[in-house]
Amino acid sequence: MTRGNPDPATQTATPDTVAIRWLGHAVQLLDQRRLPQEEHWLTIEGAAGVAQAIRDMVVRGAPAIGISAAYGVALAARGADDQDWLREVEVSVEALAESRPTAVNLFWALQRMTGVLRQCHSREDAVARLAEEAVAIHQEDLAANMAMADLALEAMELSRPCAILTHCNTGALATGGYGTALGVVRRLHEQKLLKRVYADETRPWLQGARLTTWELARDGIPVTLNADGAAAAILARGDVKWVIVGADRITANGDVANKIGTYGLAVLARHHKVKFMVVAPASTVDMSLESGRDIPIEERDGREVRQVGGISVAPEGVDVFNPVFDVTPANLIDLIVTERGVVHTPEVTGMHKLFD
Ligand code: MRU
Repeated sequence: MTRGNPDPATQTATPDTVAIRWLGHAVQLLDQRRLPQEEHWLTIEGAAGVAQAIRDMVVRGAPAIGISAAYGVALAARGADDQDWLREVEVSVEALAESRPTAVNLFWALQRMTGVLRQCHSREDAVARLAEEAVAIHQEDLAANMAMADLALEAMELSRPCAILTHCNTGALATGGYGTALGVVRRLHEQKLLKRVYADETRPWLQGARLTTWELARDGIPVTLNADGAAAAILARGDVKWVIVGADRITANGDVANKIGTYGLAVLARHHKVKFMVVAPASTVDMSLESGRDIPIEERDGREVRQVGGISVAPEGVDVFNPVFDVTPANLIDLIVTERGVVHTPEVTGMHKLFD
């Protein structure tokens, strides 16, 4: 993979590992289905291709989905007809909104792009302004990750290095760069406050095994891969002081939807008196939903569970329940860290203070 980002708009602060590159006439996505075996970039020139890439998990992770969708809207304007451009872009926005249901960053980004679209006077105007807005969304996400890492470290008040356990992939691959929970891990490592990260493999899609270990190893960050079922035994040993995860949607009462298995980890953390932190940009907060019960939870094809890497590990056609996210209730969470600030023991009042 090319190291660094060739896009001048984002070049200055972008870390080595990136998943999304803007070329002006196209967006390039690192195909995360093929990692770690192969670093293969797809070049996509239209909104329909971006929607398909999100649905197929070429690009995944809540902030990265939002950023890609924003570039998708910019591409829709480029490919539109001079006469009917507004309607064509609106149809593309609708198609992008259909791609995945749980991460609210997708809808947040589309809303922001639609706001700009409404102010455009011609297709040419839309081509320029939508691209500018998408690049801004991308850059702001990277800046938010950096700010969250600082705030998290301050809140952790560590006097000596500790071990961390994380779930799924929340790193540069899942964001505009650097990462949310993995951004905190990166910063702990930079400050010599990290002993080791335990990475849950994260069945069934194996984001932890395939992506988190790959991206941390590239940066020389000590990482140990474990089966999801080993998390309890790891927490019982005592050297993990924090479980740190990302989020796909946070509701007004502080409930958090994240990768399936997160809720179980939060229960385990409370039992073992290990602190539980959620790190997510403000674009993940959905104050229009009262609680986690209102979050649409995506269910994906049973083949993702019946097979591993295309090889059957269960009888063909066996019934499968495959929700890809779960909801962790706010009362199991110690901290929610966003770039706007930190919510301790999240509940309605604390959330409203920061997000109204
Ligand atoms: O199905 P995925 O891989 O898109 O799910 C990703 C997660 O659940 C992440 O934890 C979340 O999006 C936060 S990424 C910064």
